[in-house]
Amino acid sequence: MEDEGPECGKPDFVLLDQVTMEDFMENLKLRFEKGHIYTYIGEVLVSVNPYQELPLYGPEAIARYQGRELYERPPHLYAVANAAYRAMKRRSRDTCIVISGESGAGKTEASRHIMQYIAAVTNPSQRAEVERVKDVLLKSTCVLEAFGNARTNRNHNSSRFGKYMDINFDFKGDPVGGHIHSYLLEKSRVLKQHVGERNFHAFYQVLRGCEDKELQELHLQRNPALYNFTRQGAGLSVLDSDEKSHHQAVTEAMRVIGFSPEEVASVHRILASILHLGNIKFVELEEGSLEQRGLAVTDEVLVDHVAELTATPREMVLRCLLARTVASGGRELIEKGHTAAEASYARDACAKVLWRWGGNLEAFPEETRPEAVRGSWLLASSQAVYQRLFEWVVDRINRVMEPRDRDPRRDGKDTVIGVLDIYGFEVFPVNSFEQFCINYCNEKLQQLFIQLILKQEQEEYEREGIAWQSVEYFNNATIVDLVERPHRGILAVLDEACGSAGPITDRIFLQTLDTHHRHHPHYTSRQLCPTDKTMEFGRDFRIKHYAGDVMYSVEGFIDKNRDSLFQDFKRLLYNSTDPTLRAMWPDGQQDITEVTKRPLTAGTLFKNSMVALVENLASKEPFYIRCIKPNEDKLAAKLDEGHCRHQVAYLGLLENVRVRRAGFASRQPYSRFLLRYKMTCEYTWPNHLLGSDRAAVSALLEQHGLQGDVAFGHSKLFIRSPRTLVTLEQSRACLIPIIVLLLQKAWRGTLARRHFRRLRAVYTIMRWFRRHKVRAHLAEMQRRFQAARQPPLYGRDLVWPLPPAVLQPFQDICQALFCRWRARQLVKNIPPSDMAQIKAKVAAMAALQELRQDWGCRRAWARDYLSSATDNPTASGLFAQRLKTLREKDGFGAVLFSSHVRKVTGLSVTSGRDQLVVLHARGYDDLVVCLHRSRPPLDNRVGELVGVLAAHCQGEGRALEVRVSDCIPLTQRGARRLVSVEPKSEQPEPDFRCSRGTFTLLWPDC
Ligand SMILES: Nc1ncnc2c1ncn2[C@@H]1O[C@H](COP(=O)(O)OP(=O)(O)OP(=O)(O)O)[C@@H](O)[C@H]1O
Ligand SMILES: [Mg+2]
Repeated sequence: MEDEGPECGKPDFVLLDQVTMEDFMENLKLRFEKGHIYTYIGEVLVSVNPYQELPLYGPEAIARYQGRELYERPPHLYAVANAAYRAMKRRSRDTCIVISGESGAGKTEASRHIMQYIAAVTNPSQRAEVERVKDVLLKSTCVLEAFGNARTNRNHNSSRFGKYMDINFDFKGDPVGGHIHSYLLEKSRVLKQHVGERNFHAFYQVLRGCEDKELQELHLQRNPALYNFTRQGAGLSVLDSDEKSHHQAVTEAMRVIGFSPEEVASVHRILASILHLGNIKFVELEEGSLEQRGLAVTDEVLVDHVAELTATPREMVLRCLLARTVASGGRELIEKGHTAAEASYARDACAKVLWRWGGNLEAFPEETRPEAVRGSWLLASSQAVYQRLFEWVVDRINRVMEPRDRDPRRDGKDTVIGVLDIYGFEVFPVNSFEQFCINYCNEKLQQLFIQLILKQEQEEYEREGIAWQSVEYFNNATIVDLVERPHRGILAVLDEACGSAGPITDRIFLQTLDTHHRHHPHYTSRQLCPTDKTMEFGRDFRIKHYAGDVMYSVEGFIDKNRDSLFQDFKRLLYNSTDPTLRAMWPDGQQDITEVTKRPLTAGTLFKNSMVALVENLASKEPFYIRCIKPNEDKLAAKLDEGHCRHQVAYLGLLENVRVRRAGFASRQPYSRFLLRYKMTCEYTWPNHLLGSDRAAVSALLEQHGLQGDVAFGHSKLFIRSPRTLVTLEQSRACLIPIIVLLLQKAWRGTLARRHFRRLRAVYTIMRWFRRHKVRAHLAEMQRRFQAARQPPLYGRDLVWPLPPAVLQPFQDICQALFCRWRARQLVKNIPPSDMAQIKAKVAAMAALQELRQDWGCRRAWARDYLSSATDNPTASGLFAQRLKTLREKDGFGAVLFSSHVRKVTGLSVTSGRDQLVVLHARGYDDLVVCLHRSRPPLDNRVGELVGVLAAHCQGEGRALEVRVSDCIPLTQRGARRLVSVEPKSEQPEPDFRCSRGTFTLLWPDC
């Protein structure tokens, strides 16, 4: 182990040369003096309370222990927390950390450090939900301590309830939730505390920590001495400023956990109303006989306060304080006033519960001043209100910590670490029912320790045939039996006494105990041992606990065990308009006639919860922290040897060392051992071919050279030292990455193959579907185009079906082919005489590129209009004659186009409905003309002219550039000019106008 030299003693008691009490104490003392408060016994940690802050904790220390094995670093709480955490992660097993020791030994502090360690080493990926859970886990301690801890003579922050906290982890080892079980709150502390002790911290925190305004609203004054419930502890308070900062810390913690501001205010109101209830006193009314005398409340303003703070009607509160409703035979209800006689009965029967406070009774004349008493029913109600408040706080925290959205099928099963911090064994000058329960609880836990660590271990060695030297130890089973045995055990006798009708007193209960346990070695009373003057007749009995003798006073046992409360009171609080208070009293809903079944007694409930707790712990892998209190004076650096020796003895630590030294650190069935370590040996990986698992384990250990440190049982392997286990773990850890890679490879291959198969299936489906679509499409085409050959339309109106995407190019080609075919069919029927005209029209269409809408396509094109007598009635003869002369002279073949034109400076062509045409001639002036005097007038011949010229040029293999524009540029005598068209309604004939070098064709717009 690091950091510790031999001068600090042995870090593990197992390493002592001799296992004697002297050697044990010497080592414990030496280590304590050197500031080493922790020492191992194997995996059990012995911790001595240092009563001073030591530099052993914090993030740096946590980092040193994180991920380490138990023996690698000096003994520490962190090492045990880490071992429990790793065991849980490695083996997916639930583990628990049981912290035991007497009151003030440091259990709660230890549990706090464990929680801090777990919080620090988890959630590396900073998941928000995990952070939330961790926050609640850490903050819950602060809140629970405020409501459940109090100053006692043995410990200034003593846990007055038992706490077992489960922390749920996901498969990655991050905390995802938790649950707190609380056990038997010492609620009688609300009413009375021993000299030198205080009530629960929460009361003082509210009195000293609340702002003035809030205190006023609660009708409280700052001084705890003014309230009966807090008077005893008033002088023992810690500094006011500390109390205030604690109050702030608790309120902040409640906020973080998720208590709403209204809930926190309700909690304060409930605490205040308990304090007011504590100050209420009764006086006997004068009328009636002593037996029937009724009671009155002395200070009714307190009733007002209670009614206001609990949000209940004042009259109801008063009625509950003075009377109760009882169900008489049948379903009839009668109201019965609490009588002075009952008060006196209570005073006699349980002096501790009914006190005299010498109240403020100035209102009464001196001679008639009655004695003020406090009804036992009122005290029972006050402590019950506090208990319900505490249970509600625990429940509220649990609701917040509950693992959310966990699905075992998706997330895997949660694993759990349980941390048990329960009240320690305690002995007070007067011990009552609460101490009896607390000490019984410690007996149960000691029994569990014996079962798990001492007994089971030895029994197992025997069962497995391992050579073993038996170790003697004290088994406290007999004391547990004395308490919980059915019919005759102390709890059973107490239950019987509670169930008996009539005023059975605690004294009769004691007599029954004496009869039943006359010969029990661990039970005695004054009756059985008259010479023992420390006990009083008819009041005390003594149990020899494993941790020492404790004398119990039976006074109040029956009342506390019965723990009854009037239904009126439950109903009163259930009907409160404060939802928080109402939620604490669900049983107030029941009708009084329904409440006939006797509820389980406090003792039986506690016994049942202990049995369940022990069963729960036994089902988990346990880690033990045994706390030792070094002195009774809470002094630092003082180790009272006698006191410690006593604790070492009763905790059975020496026996623990002996069993440990003789025993083995670990045992595992052969099959499980192989499953975990088989990859470290060639004979066992992946599966062995040897005769048995045992032979395979033997081969594995021989390969590692570890056979000397083990023993072979019938079904299990026993490993002597943790070092062997660690060696195996380390070689396993080296191989795990390779195996993980192998698994990843195989799994990725599987995933890829699966993906590929799916893809292939998808493609096959797609292929067949496409094929189907193509076929369907072709069939549809065939059907539709049946009639395409029919003249004269040749399928012009046929609608092409929408093709599948794959057939789109094919369809485009088909459409083109179809067009050509149809054209061919149409052209075939055109007479040869029309061919020239058709060609000209086609050429015009191509040349005009659809830029000109109206180009005379539907008209028959005559070409030579000047020769036509219709177009040119006056000069057609002359034109024909001139043409003849020209043909003879120039020898041209045919007139392509002739028309009347108006020439300005040359020839040109236009767009629109007008007949403007500009003829461009390269190197010459452009010719601008407007076709003119056609018959019918303004006949559209531009298209024809373009067509004829274009077709002609096409025929000659020349390109004819045709431009369509509403503003045509042209050249005349080297100058650039523009010509445009201006439609004019009153224009009789087309005409040109020239203005500043720009020509405008004035076109008759009709
Ligand atoms: N590791 C520690 N370092 C410093 N002080 C400690 C340590 N452990 C305990 N103490 C001191 O001892 C006091 C009592 O410890 P703690 O409350 O944990 O006792 P406990 O065993 O829970 O007692 P109880 O059974 O009464 O609840 C603490 O308030 C603290 O002052
Ligand atoms: Mg404690």
